[in-house]
Order: sequence, then C-alpha cells, then structure tokens
Amino acid sequence: MSRNPFIKTPFPEFKDPEQLSEKQAGKEIGQLREAIEKHNQFYYVENDPQISDKQYDRLFERLLELEEAFPGHRSRVSPTKKIGAPPAGALKKKKHAAPMLSLDSSEKKEKAEHFLKQLRKKTGKDNPEFIMEPKFDGLSVEVVYEHGEFSHGVTRGDGETGEDISANVKTIGSLPLRLSNENGLPDFLPVRGEIFMGKDDFHDLNKKRIEKGEKPFANARNAAAGIVRQLDPAKVADKPLDIFFYEIIEPAEHVFESHWELLKRFKKWGLKTNPEVRKGNSFEQISDYHRSMEKKREELPYEIDGIVIKLNDRPLRKKLGVRQRSPRWAFAWKFSPRQEVSTLKEIVVQVGRSGILTPVALLEPVDVGGVTVSRATLHNEDEVNRKDVRPGDRVKIFRAGDVIPGISGRVEKTGKKREKTYKMPRKCPACHTEVVREGAYVVCPAGLSCPAQLKGSLKHFASRPAMNIEELGAKTIGQLVDREMVKRLPDLYTLKTEDLSQLPGFAEKSSKKLHDSIRNSRDTTLSSFIYALGIRHVGTRTARILAREYESLDRLMEASAEDLASISDIGKETAESIAHFFSNADNRKMIEKLKEAGLKIGLDMRGTSSRLEGKTFVITGELEDFRREEAKEKIEALGGRATSGISDNTDYLVVGENPGSKLDEAKKRNIPTLDEKEFKKMIET
Ligand code: IVH
Repeated sequence: MSRNPFIKTPFPEFKDPEQLSEKQAGKEIGQLREAIEKHNQFYYVENDPQISDKQYDRLFERLLELEEAFPGHRSRVSPTKKIGAPPAGALKKKKHAAPMLSLDSSEKKEKAEHFLKQLRKKTGKDNPEFIMEPKFDGLSVEVVYEHGEFSHGVTRGDGETGEDISANVKTIGSLPLRLSNENGLPDFLPVRGEIFMGKDDFHDLNKKRIEKGEKPFANARNAAAGIVRQLDPAKVADKPLDIFFYEIIEPAEHVFESHWELLKRFKKWGLKTNPEVRKGNSFEQISDYHRSMEKKREELPYEIDGIVIKLNDRPLRKKLGVRQRSPRWAFAWKFSPRQEVSTLKEIVVQVGRSGILTPVALLEPVDVGGVTVSRATLHNEDEVNRKDVRPGDRVKIFRAGDVIPGISGRVEKTGKKREKTYKMPRKCPACHTEVVREGAYVVCPAGLSCPAQLKGSLKHFASRPAMNIEELGAKTIGQLVDREMVKRLPDLYTLKTEDLSQLPGFAEKSSKKLHDSIRNSRDTTLSSFIYALGIRHVGTRTARILAREYESLDRLMEASAEDLASISDIGKETAESIAHFFSNADNRKMIEKLKEAGLKIGLDMRGTSSRLEGKTFVITGELEDFRREEAKEKIEALGGRATSGISDNTDYLVVGENPGSKLDEAKKRNIPTLDEKEFKKMIET
C-alpha cells in the first residue's frame, strides 16, 4: 500500500493514455482504484480526509480516462461504478444466504437481566464475555462480497427473501466495492449491517422537502428506507446514506473465534464498524452501558434506539443456536420511547426573522423521554392539515435528538365534536400586514419593519457566531424594539449609555456594559459579519467559504449568482439568495450605515489562519465555555482541523467534563490531551 503513489500528495504526473502499454495502464488503474477506495475510507469512514476534494476529483477523472481508453480493464466493482447504474423497472426479489434473523428485544431491565441469567445457564459459565453495541435505528441489509468484491445487497424482507438493492447500496460512500486484501478473507462473505442517514443530513433533507412543499419524512429511518428502495440509483447517489456493519452470516459465520476479533477484522477489510462497541461480563456493565448510551444518544450524529448484547464467543453461539426468529445469544435492550401523547391546547403562530409564519402547537406539558415538552412545531399550514390536528385533540408527540419536538399525528376519538380545521391568519400577528403565500409557506412581507422579524434578525445578529454581542439577550432586544429604540440593525450602534439606562432593570453599570459590548462587536471578522447579515441559506460554514473566497465584503457584494455558484460547496439556490440579498437597495444601505457606525472587518482567514495549520483536534466531553460547534469553528478559523474520531492523525484530544471513551483511546495511543484551560490558551494566545 505504501508504494501506491496515489495515496499521498503530490501525485506523479499523469501520462497521456496513448503512451501507456496495456500492462502499465492495468497497473495504474489498479493503484488508482485502491487509492480511491482508501480515500473513500478516510473521508466517509474515518471522517478524516487526507486529500482535498479537487485532488480526489483528479484521481477519479484519471481513472475514468484510463477505463475509457482501456476497455479491457473495466470492472463492475471499480469506484467509478459506485454511481451511474440505470433506473430499474422494479426491485427484484433475492433469497438470503441464510435466514436474516431478528433480535429478542425489550425496554425492561428485568428482561435484560433474564437474558444474562439464561446466558450463564446455557453456557455453563459464571461470567461469559459479551459485546455491547448500539442498536442502530436504520434498516437491516445483507451485503455479499465474493472474492473480496461487492456482489449484491438485499433488504431483510421477510427474513428469507428480500429485495435486491445492489445498485443503491453501491452508491453509499462508506461502503467499499472491493475489500482490502487481508489474509483470512473468505471467498464468499455475506455480512450484515444497518443502513442509516445521519441526523444532520436528515434534517437538511427534510428542510428541503418542506420548502418544496413535499411531505417530510417522519424520521431518519423512514428517510433511509424510502431512499434505499428507490428505483433510480442516481436519486440515491445524491443522498447521504451511511452504513455500519455488525455481523457475519453463514456460511462464513465461524471463521472467527470471537465477535470482537470479527469487528477488528471488518475494520481492516474496510467495512465500517461502530466506535461505541464495548466488552463486558457483568450485569453492572450492561446497565452502565445502557445508561451511558441513552445519555449519549442525543449527541451521537445518528439515531440509536437501544443497545444490543451479544455473546462474544462465536463457537459457543453455535451451540446455543436460534429460536424461531431470533438467536439465543443476543438480546436488544431498548431505550424508553421518545413518543408520548398529550392534548393540543392551542395553535399559535410564530414569525421568524425571514418573515415565515410557523404554526406552533401549545401542549399540555408532558415528559417525552426525560424532557418536558410543551411546544411542538407544525412547520406550515399544509402540515397541520395533512396531520389533521386541531385544538382539543389528543396528539402524538415525538422528540428526536436535540431538535424541536414534532407532532406525528393524532389519536382518534370517536363521537367527540372537534374544532374547525386550522387556517393560517391572513394578517401577520406581529405587525398586521397582510401575509402572502410563498410555496408551502405563509410569509409576512413587511421585512424589518415587522417587529417580530426585526427581533429575530437582531437576535441572530447578536449571536455568538455572528457579531457576538454577549450582553444583548432576547429580553433586551424585545425591549429595544418595543420601545422603538431600534428600528434597523445599525440603530444598535447609535444607542447611548443614557438611552440604555432607561430600560427596565438597567442601572448605570449594566448599561455601560451593554454599550461596551455593542461597541466592541464592531471589531469583527468577514465570515462572522457575512453570517450576521442573516442571508437565507447562509450558515456559518457557507459564510466561512465566502470569506475565504472573496476576502473582502465589497468584492462579495459585487459577485453575480453565477460567480457564486461556481464555488464548490455553494449550490445554485444559495448563490441566488446571496446575489439577491446584495442587490437589494435597502440591504446595501444598511451595510453602508453599519460601516459608518465604525464597523471594522478583519481578514479573518488570513494572518491568524496558519496558527493551527496541519493540527488535528478531537473533542470529548462537555466544555464549559463553548458549545462543541463553536470550539470546532475556532479550530478551523485558525487553520486547524476538528474531526470526530481519534485516528493516527489526531494531534490533540480536548477533554471536557464527562469525557467519553475517546479519552481511553487517546491514552492508548499516546495522543496528548488538553483540558479546557490549555485549549483556550492555545487558541487565544
Ligand atoms: S445483530 C441475528 N446488531 O435490530 C441477529 N442488529 O430488532 C442479527 N440492529 O433486524 C442482528 N443494531 O436490523 C444486530 N448492533 C446491532 C444492531 C442490530 C440494530 C437491528 C437489526 C435487526 C433489528 C432487530
């Protein structure tokens, strides 16, 4: 592998294909394929890309070029074949190599205890070793490799026969089409894994669907399941699916002595495994693991709905055997559900900073998986009516991770008179301007003369990743707007200490503090300022890309939608939104006013950017002064990289309160750790 010239940059110069012999081409094609699989692994599995997107594209295009010129070397498992299969008429049925079993499962602690008791009895061991894994909330798939090459992928179906989803499975970034050559790779290797969609990707996808007026998916699992059964693989390829592998099935089942060995080998072969897997041999450990994973559930980037306990000793597993549908050697201890039922008291309307009116359900407070919920979003009018929920109804509430709770539908009750179907107000509840319809949304067209939109914009403007006006909270913003002391964003900077001291609760000292905080915010960076403007579709990441690309506000303001769209990572919609924002005369005037108020925009990425250049950080546990995203932003702004998993490329582990297993991992690998104080020092000096 180390001799492969395409693993590390700089790559050797590419020769004209015409100058290559068949043999030379074959060799280069082999190296390119191996390198691309490897870079797919770095990118999708380890979250730690080793080359830039551009460099990756160069390798990919070179491979395409050679495969075109040397048809004899084409292969159905080349990385170039991950995408591009034609749409199918229908999914074909396919029989599994061995029946795909299910798991015995329960939410009850006693059942988990019982499982361990049975395991002790049946194995005759007091402390049989077991492996604990998250129970992924995705969809089960059988993937078969033959002679190390991807052969096919099949859904679970009825356990005996499923649907052939090979063309779709192949598009998954983290799934290798060819396994790394390792001793002990069985010729016929059927493995089992779980296809899923990450939480962030799921939210992005749903947001887009809602914007387009399409029905959002109820949860990430439904999204993954719907997408993977699509008939057109091209429509799968642009969706962010992922996979974890966790079992090997007959007939290759018994090539390993233990499950632990197997997972280690999976990793070596290039099959993505989950990093949260642990060993144990007591119920206390099971219980601790269950508790810690349930807590961690919120912060994991994918959905899990319990833990799975599996006997580690594989030959022993065979002795224990299986029941009708599930093996005796495994058990799923599920988490308590995050669905509850409560009464919908009222539907109110919230006006966001972009003017969108969002119906919000006020609920009889109810505990949903450990969090009291009294509000849930209903997205838009169509959603309210599709779900047919009205005040007085009993409704099903769900909570997924850290997002705003939602309502999945209502519990029907017969014979009860219901209120009328819901209609959005005709006038904005904040400024009484007549609302307009924009696609699926109802929007207040008043812009910043609507107090709700102004408040929202100010909140965004003052937030930490924007202008970072620490002393300016939502309450103060409300007072400033209601008293008409601030009518436009730039008005903030002409407020005097005396003005502020008139606000309820503000004494001399506190008004001076707020005044200073506002003044100091004028000293900002280009990316923070771009973000602060609150342009539709421009989050912190896009703002950073724009700052890096244009390096000056004036240049950005003159960029056309085409210019903007030519930047990789900036889509057409975003490009249009940016160009539209800066072409608006009011917005230009506002920026002019802010400049007059003494705005100082530093060139953020340059100058300071090289300080952490080449350094890779991983964060574990909770930091006191930053949210994790903020800490990552700081690192990236200084030219460093922040990744989620420990690897050989990790330079520092930043350790907060209640660190996770990453700390052990770092110690094992002798990776230096920083506590929050040390980390702060490093990014501040
Ligand atoms: S092992 C023979 N391990 O849970 C048993 N399954 O309710 C093979 N699942 O259909 C399954 N995470 O789709 C196993 N770490 C994990 C899992 C897992 C999720 C799913 C699997 C199965 C379902 C059973």
